[in-house]
Amino acid sequence: MRIYDIILKKRDGDSNTKEEIRTLIEGYVKGEVPDYQISAWLMAVFFNHMTPKECSDLTEVILNSGEKIDLSSIKGIKVDKHSTGGVGDKVTLVLGPIVASLGLTFAKLSGRGLGHTGGTIDKLESIPGFKTTLEKEEFFSIVNNIGIAVAGQTANIAPADKKLYALRDVTATVDEISLIASSIMGKKLAIGSDIIVLDVKTGSGAFMKKLEDARKLAKAMLDIGKRHGRKMSAVVSDMNQPLGNMVGNALEVREAIETLKGEGPKDLLELTVAIAERMAILSGIVDGESARKMIYETITSGQALKKFEEFVEAQGGNPEVVDKPEQILPASQYKFTVESPQKGFIKSIDAQEIGISAMVLGAGREKKGDKIDPAVGIEILKKVGERVEAGEPLAVIYTNDVNRYEYARKRLLEAYSFSMDEVPKLELIHEIF
Ligand code: URA
Repeated sequence: MRIYDIILKKRDGDSNTKEEIRTLIEGYVKGEVPDYQISAWLMAVFFNHMTPKECSDLTEVILNSGEKIDLSSIKGIKVDKHSTGGVGDKVTLVLGPIVASLGLTFAKLSGRGLGHTGGTIDKLESIPGFKTTLEKEEFFSIVNNIGIAVAGQTANIAPADKKLYALRDVTATVDEISLIASSIMGKKLAIGSDIIVLDVKTGSGAFMKKLEDARKLAKAMLDIGKRHGRKMSAVVSDMNQPLGNMVGNALEVREAIETLKGEGPKDLLELTVAIAERMAILSGIVDGESARKMIYETITSGQALKKFEEFVEAQGGNPEVVDKPEQILPASQYKFTVESPQKGFIKSIDAQEIGISAMVLGAGREKKGDKIDPAVGIEILKKVGERVEAGEPLAVIYTNDVNRYEYARKRLLEAYSFSMDEVPKLELIHEIF
């Protein structure tokens, strides 16, 4: 079939076959199909969407375009999680040690932060000595020894997605759910884990601003995963304010350690436990009744914290970070308190603005390859529904550059809105599939 006819079919609302999708995308990756034809097809998909079968077929072509990580030589039940990206999202750092303590295997490849959202690899690299570039054998050996390892995603996974995403970015076709689902799952399925739990975020700091869209995305990704033989679950969680209180790499590691000590913020623990519970149940190691109890016990017994320490040490990091995070982690030179401009209840916090403020301070990247400062960031002292007096501390800015402070402070204050009437606390978990 001619490329023209494949585009025409999609333009007219018909479905493309697997063969047609393969011809199109493989041709594009090889440089045989030009950008303008793929752009036209993407726009046709944007308006006409894709059926679950087309989504699954596109995912397969994307995942087969590059390297696949076969985890079959690793012992145990391999669990993986994917977050669609948020602000202050350090769930992986808490979840990994918990599920490894439960006897599950957490062999994870993670990404770096971009724009207002952070990345696990940047957070881990704020621990002195921590290596996120591991040879395959080293990665496998760490996982087999201690049940957990987290490394940076290799460049060879799903190259078709890289090319397609770059084109979507300049043709206004990024925000189509069927394309997003295939893009995420094409990368996720390249890693051979048995169980995948998705954390689909919704709200001001998320990719999916509307709950309905987040639900659709979750369902589309679950469908793709099941068609590819994986056990899947999805949690739709709120990102209308940062998760936890800390935003910024070393600050988030500190908060993750506090959470593993049982002293962290409630929302971070609640979401982590919900994801761990899905993993434990899907793996069949425990029934629904006892899963939560066992998860909490990994924290109260100190087992999960010990696992985090082993994990840091195994990847070359300084394990003393567990006992002395303030001394071991990089700290900023300056610390400024931002005071509330008025009294009342916190009505909303635009999480994206908080993420951008942290990025302005140097905690994140505006574009790929930008250098980040691990020490800087923001501590949120008041969250939605809490009462404040005028002049009461609202947040703390950690910076190494006083010149960036004023701008970050301005954006941070713009992120807050207030109400004189009482405001209910935000619901964190909207739905579990
Ligand atoms: N994240 C991805 O990996 N792909 C998309 O299309 C959108 C967000």
